[in-house]
Amino acid sequence: MNIQQNISLKNYNTFGISVNAKRFVSINSYYDLQQLLKVEKDLFLISGGSNMLLTKDIEKLVVHINLKGISIDREDENNVHLTVNAGENWHDFVLFCIAENYGGIENLSLIPGNVGTCPIQNIGAYGVEVKDTITKVEAIEIKTGKRVTFSNEDCQFGYRNSIFKNDLKSKVILTAVSFKLTKKNHQLNTSYGAIESELTSKNIKKPTLKDISDAVIAIRKSKLPDPKKIGNSGSFFKNPVISKAQFLELQKETPNIPNYTVSDAEIKVPAGWLVEQSGFKGKRFGDAGVHEKQALVLVNYGAASGEEIYQLAQKIQQTVFDKFGISLEIEVNVID
Ligand code: EPU
Repeated sequence: MNIQQNISLKNYNTFGISVNAKRFVSINSYYDLQQLLKVEKDLFLISGGSNMLLTKDIEKLVVHINLKGISIDREDENNVHLTVNAGENWHDFVLFCIAENYGGIENLSLIPGNVGTCPIQNIGAYGVEVKDTITKVEAIEIKTGKRVTFSNEDCQFGYRNSIFKNDLKSKVILTAVSFKLTKKNHQLNTSYGAIESELTSKNIKKPTLKDISDAVIAIRKSKLPDPKKIGNSGSFFKNPVISKAQFLELQKETPNIPNYTVSDAEIKVPAGWLVEQSGFKGKRFGDAGVHEKQALVLVNYGAASGEEIYQLAQKIQQTVFDKFGISLEIEVNVID
């Protein structure tokens, strides 16, 4: 285990924010993690760094979770059960599954980040959430160094939410995630409008897992910036849920407001639409900006500080609130 001093975290967060870690260690084995926890408890964890906004240097020991490996636990004619270590790149895992014809996560292609963080915010896209394939999450408890296992139910998954964002925040380190995927009779989810039109445009009537993955990749590439080229953290805000009464009032003024029914009393409104209607789409303030093709994504054009991105987020929140009376909740983990 090699603890390094004064390491830049620019390449460890997809926003590409330049802050320093006073001390930094990359962890490659479960054993090393256990040993580390015997001497250090006050840690700052970083994995794929795809859902965080760093706003200042990190004083705590930064621990880069780099546990690798995919193993098949068991399989039968219909399903495969796999366990994937936390440091595996999410999209590489999706591509592995598609190559092996394992179905269930093809709609989640090209999402940045690592496997170990996918349960924390229950990543979701194009009608699928990762919670539908997770059977188990393995972790180590920071206080005791003990191994703990969570069933799907234990994880208390919700929209971009789980127990790891709430009661267990900063209490456990996720080390591996287990999935149950299909080997045949895949439950394809092509109902999302953009997927349907992408498949139709290619004249694909009976899509394979790869067809769906390719469609998702094409849609994402057309709308979402590649973090390797323009720093970003995907959707910066959650899509807000408002009361039906408030929605009906808003609809009177803006009849074209997009919406999804959540329940009899609640409606979800796309944050991207609210941000666009508030005039921020494609706007740039120094190196901090709002993506020109998807207003839900804040971007770093190169040298923006985390503080500048955060200030822009707050300005957007205020403007959306003043215009629509809706509070946008930040989805990304702001480290301040
Ligand atoms: N819209 C606008 N302007 C914009 C962006 C969107 O008017 O700039 C409108 C669209 O016209 C559409 C609606 O908002 O009517 C929804 O847009 P989109 O289909 O692009 O999806 P989203 O609700 O903005 C969510 C997820 C994405 C995920 C997509 C596809 C959240 C916070 N975001 O975005 O997740 O890829 O659906 O399923 O739920 C992420 O979490 O990082 C992420 C990218």
